[in-house]
Amino acid sequence: MTEPRRLVFATNNSHKLSELRQIAGDGIIILSLADIGCEDDIPETGSTLEENSMIKARWVYERYGYDCFADDTGLEVTALGGEPGVRSARYATDGHDSAANMALLLRNLSDKADRSAGFRTVITLIEDGKASVFSGEVRGEIISEPSGSGGFGYDPVFRPEGWDKTFAEASPEEKNAVSHRGKAVARLIEYLKTIRK
Ligand code: IMP
Repeated sequence: MTEPRRLVFATNNSHKLSELRQIAGDGIIILSLADIGCEDDIPETGSTLEENSMIKARWVYERYGYDCFADDTGLEVTALGGEPGVRSARYATDGHDSAANMALLLRNLSDKADRSAGFRTVITLIEDGKASVFSGEVRGEIISEPSGSGGFGYDPVFRPEGWDKTFAEASPEEKNAVSHRGKAVARLIEYLKTIRK
């Protein structure tokens, strides 16, 4: 019998981990940073989502010797030239203050007619030192005030194209079916299943 494949997901986010483990199934064992004894505060010093996901995946591969993947996500708003983008988590403050981030976003958009925006996720996988990149995007618009209590981050102000509600008013299953992360993860898993070692 072949051993299941082991891969590290360079995250401490337990929600993302369990989502990935569920989609990956039995053939791939997904390890967390805690599972490999990594407590490093991995620097996210890149100026793009691509760079940050690469930095995180390479950090683990080079220091811990595991094949690894990492993700990075940003909200890209057309009228703001793609901002907050790679700075989405720290748009208003140094911390992950979603209420402050949304308030700043709505203030910056208050005189803009174009409310179009998209979430984009980039996943970089490093296997035997070689990088593969997967991405997913969902387009929509920023509504004028937060609505809904589900999800996280900017979900209460983001309404996907063709929807009459925000991500924060949707179930996790509804969101995952169309979301940036859902699409990027599906592409990664499809790749892993076809090239299973
Ligand atoms: P991360 O790279 O997944 O940690 O995402 C960076 C930041 O983007 C988060 O802190 C959130 O502010 C925002 N973000 C990422 N994914 C989502 C999402 O699915 N909905 C709303 N906001 C998100």
